[in-house]
Amino acid sequence: MIKIKKRKILLLPGDGIGPEVIQEVKKVILWLNSNKSLDFEIDEDLAGGCSYDKHGTPITDEVFYKALESEFVMLGAVGGPKWDNLDFSKKPERALLKLRKELKLFANLRPAICFEQLVDASTLKPEIVSGLDIMIVRELTGGIYFGEPRGIKPIENGERKGINTHSYTTSEIVRVAKVAFDLARKRSNQVTSCEKSNVMEAGQLWKEEVQELHDKEYKDVELSHMLADNCAMQLLKNPKQFDVIVTDNLFGDMLSDQASMLTGSLGLLPSASLGAKNKDGEMRAMYEPIHGSAPDIAGKEIANPIASILSFAMALRYSLDLDSEADALEKAVQDVLNDGLRTKDILSEGKKEVSTSAMGDAIISKLQ
Ligand code: IPM
Ligand code: MG
Repeated sequence: MIKIKKRKILLLPGDGIGPEVIQEVKKVILWLNSNKSLDFEIDEDLAGGCSYDKHGTPITDEVFYKALESEFVMLGAVGGPKWDNLDFSKKPERALLKLRKELKLFANLRPAICFEQLVDASTLKPEIVSGLDIMIVRELTGGIYFGEPRGIKPIENGERKGINTHSYTTSEIVRVAKVAFDLARKRSNQVTSCEKSNVMEAGQLWKEEVQELHDKEYKDVELSHMLADNCAMQLLKNPKQFDVIVTDNLFGDMLSDQASMLTGSLGLLPSASLGAKNKDGEMRAMYEPIHGSAPDIAGKEIANPIASILSFAMALRYSLDLDSEADALEKAVQDVLNDGLRTKDILSEGKKEVSTSAMGDAIISKLQ
């Protein structure tokens, strides 16, 4: 097993707007190094389409090993139309999936918080989303994303058949549910577990295991079960009924995209992908903004770096236990929004438009 080097951060900016937003995170890290005497060691490398272009693979073994020995990875975004027609094994997204799977980052935390300054940016009525603060915990290394058998094969009648397999084991369900229950205890103490137990055996098992864990170890947390389709509906109808939502890989992918848009601004939402703690209390992790590579706006200096900067704040909190630094960084973001500075994606009347790097600089100046 490769040992984790304390305070070593691997930056994987990736494709599209990834490099622009990660550049701003890098500025924050360097600022913390010189002003808060934090000794982060930064390395930077290729993953995604850019790696494919240079090395013919979305992630090289060398970069993968760097990720293994880093305390955490900060990823920008991967993918773009340029690489759409590649074989699955070569697609930029494979870099992401390989890192998640092989670093065993089974718990994906996706907060959906509606910033008070941006309530009007949501397509929903302000009273529905104002004050919204949901945490989606998505299982990230199992389910249909990775299940075997998978593939496309010819069948007798000359047609082809596409196959993916959805499966979960008790331990896969229990470990991610624990993360959700533990988080709930620090929040509003309420977990909603989502599956399709009405049509899928794996969903039935999910529901039973979550309930059993609750009854054994988390009786103090309020647990409810909800069918995933109903959850999609409830997220639009009354999103504030939720505190922590725990769900599988595929439903989590979809429900988190939906939840993120309640906040009106994909450009603001961070995420953390966490592994289990080892016996020395160390944990592998990867942090990334939930927006994608947005190739249409890449290179224009208009991307919003806030989601990436808030992802780094999550790293300070979850990987490094530097809660006060994380608080300060989150507050700096709020302060800049209160000052009326906006990147193009969240611009509204009467606010001042700033570039990606000007937004990063403004946040750093608030840290001073
Ligand atoms: C996400 C993305 C990824 C996923 C893609 C890029 C592989 O949509 O992180 O939500 O499907 O998990
Ligand atoms: Mg997604």
